Amino acid sequence: MSLPFSSGTWEYLFATPYSPSASITVDGLKAGELPEVSSLTFKSSRELLEKAIDGHQENGDVLALVARADGRPVGLVLAEPMPQRDGGNATGQKRLLLRSVFSNLLWQHKGIGKLLMASLETGARDLGYSSIQTEYTPKLESFEAFERLLVSAGWKSPRLFMEESLFWIKDMVYGDWLKRVPQLPDEYELVAFDRLTEADRAGLQVRLNTGDIPHGLSPFAEEEHLVPELSVGLRHDSKIVAWMSLLRSPVVHDAICYRSLYVDPVLRMANGLGPILAADAFRRHAANPIAEERPKGIFNTHHTAIKQMNFVRKRVLPCCYETYAFRSSSLDLQPSSSS
Ligand SMILES: CC(C)(COP(=O)(O)OP(=O)(O)OC[C@H]1O[C@@H](n2cnc3c(N)ncnc32)[C@H](O)[C@@H]1OP(=O)(O)O)[C@@H](O)C(=O)NCCC(=O)NCCS
Repeated sequence: MSLPFSSGTWEYLFATPYSPSASITVDGLKAGELPEVSSLTFKSSRELLEKAIDGHQENGDVLALVARADGRPVGLVLAEPMPQRDGGNATGQKRLLLRSVFSNLLWQHKGIGKLLMASLETGARDLGYSSIQTEYTPKLESFEAFERLLVSAGWKSPRLFMEESLFWIKDMVYGDWLKRVPQLPDEYELVAFDRLTEADRAGLQVRLNTGDIPHGLSPFAEEEHLVPELSVGLRHDSKIVAWMSLLRSPVVHDAICYRSLYVDPVLRMANGLGPILAADAFRRHAANPIAEERPKGIFNTHHTAIKQMNFVRKRVLPCCYETYAFRSSSLDLQPSSSS
């Protein structure tokens, strides 16, 4: 059937009115339907969607499942393998990240979302994933419906996970608090990541391997996005005891992501080392030509990091233009009884 509207426009979507007698199927994304289906995910996920077309050479396990009513797309769930954030987590378990689930406006609240989530679960299990995870903000248009959907699809209760604060580096670097950051004690040395020695790196790797440093806070996490000349470590007695790693945000193209701020637990009580590191990273960002291309900063704080959260609320937030919470939920996948 040919329609008088361009694919992907609102008119096109409204051209599939709800019909309780339509035959509903869920299947992989086909090449020809990309323009129509691309309006069923976020703009930022459209590149990923292309990879998911059945038979795409660089598919890399990207899953795009399309719900169709009498053959016309009315819903889409999109997921990809979890990025290696931890710089070499050795658990060997495959985890999938749910990027989006959308139903056509005229088909919402009709069970399409649930059907897509069930199909995603089966698809993930068949590909050998041990869990599916999702991270999102309450700013989602359908926040309430999405959380209902997660719960009714058997996912864990959604919970607060991280706070993300956005700022212009030119505002942050003139923040009053930066002028009051204590002096670095003489026995410590600040060192940019591009000046780390082989011995520094080897020492950190040993501590990561033994679990002394939590993988999630590894200075090498998401290394493909790392900006070594802006990321900074703190050397004490020939050992790197703290760091603040900065990444080119893969999602916000004009922002630097302030990813991991870590201070050895034994040093956390004294000297204000965390603020010293953060201040140094802010100054490096502001003084580097990268600030023209990426004038924004994104500071992430895990909600369980109480001391860092206090630091962010007191010092960083007054220099930010926006802040919001991230929530997360996950589904553990048991091997199916037939496998
Ligand atoms: C979230 C979304 C995918 C739900 O899809 P759907 O096809 O409407 O979902 P279902 O009809 O299968 O309903 C699933 C659950 O959500 C509930 N729900 C659906 N729409 C709702 C609404 N507007 N308000 C409150 N609950 C709602 C249903 O009652 C059901 O819960 P129950 O099993 O406890 O009764 C859909 O609203 C949507 O596409 N929103 C826009 C995109 C979006 O924000 N996606 C989420 C994050 S990527």
